[in-house]
Amino acid sequence: MTNPAIKHYLQFNDLNADEYRHLFARAALIKKKFKAYEKHHPLVDRTLAMIFEKASTRTRVSFEAGMYQLGGSVVHLTTGDSQLGRAEPIEDSAKVISRMVDLVMIRTYEQTKIERFATHSRVPVINGLTNEFHPCQILADLFTYLEHRGTDTLGQPDPARLAGKVVAWVGDGNNMANTWLQAAELLGFTVHLSTPSGYEVDPAVAGLRSSGSYKIFKDPRDACAGADLVTTDVWTSMGYEAENEARMRAFANWCVNADMMRAAKPEALFMHCLPAHRGEEVSAEVIDGPQSVVWDEAENRMHVQKALMEYLLLGRVA
Ligand code: CP
Ligand code: NVA
Repeated sequence: MTNPAIKHYLQFNDLNADEYRHLFARAALIKKKFKAYEKHHPLVDRTLAMIFEKASTRTRVSFEAGMYQLGGSVVHLTTGDSQLGRAEPIEDSAKVISRMVDLVMIRTYEQTKIERFATHSRVPVINGLTNEFHPCQILADLFTYLEHRGTDTLGQPDPARLAGKVVAWVGDGNNMANTWLQAAELLGFTVHLSTPSGYEVDPAVAGLRSSGSYKIFKDPRDACAGADLVTTDVWTSMGYEAENEARMRAFANWCVNADMMRAAKPEALFMHCLPAHRGEEVSAEVIDGPQSVVWDEAENRMHVQKALMEYLLLGRVA
């Protein structure tokens, strides 16, 4: 049994709407201080272990830079350079690593693996991407949306402004899609899903409580109609490379292009978690165009994760 006194972030619905309100406010403050070169060192002498079983650029840099900026330090492990790649049981690794550090971030394959690690960990565990979920990315994406389209009268990101919004998901029913769906259920917006046949979201895998927060569209352009945000992801996620050729054929009509963006609201934003493949899941015109906020999304990974690490270790600081 996972120790209920330890707060993990293994999927988006591990936190509630009120906790997200707190995190968005803290992320805004932490970002402001970062931009002003003001020190923010709540995690002095704390250590984050980062375990990567899959490749990464943004997750590695954002967690590592973020932890140093909070006054802490990091240990970086990969499958290849640790005993994880030599079949040491995940439970044993969790027991050992969590005796030496204060926080663990893991990027791995099956969600069950990170759950097993968390069950045996003495410290909070953060999901840095699994086959099923990518909660830190959606945390950054929602913060980015609110910065652009959902601030209150004081200029603060206000998650209440997400209510009633429409997010169009064009592409694979993957870890990003699952996490968008959990966020929609929790924060009161709707996801318009369009995936090729055979690549649909499985609501049970996504851990949804109802079917009330999403609608399914055969044609991706119909999914984009009237959307506030259009988003997509690679056609072949890490771990699915053997399916690449079949996926290239199946996804050919699921490239977010200018025509799809025209179907969305005029003020709609475009997002992509990156890395992107121009000419596959998105046209260069869209990702490099005026509605795209992909660079803000990437930068905001660091600011929201700093707020998340602070919260998991220290709770609600003022
Ligand atoms: N978006 C994201 O998680 O990027 P990396 O794979 O580079 O970490
Ligand atoms: N769905 C992609 C996201 C990469 C950040 C993958 O899992 O590879």
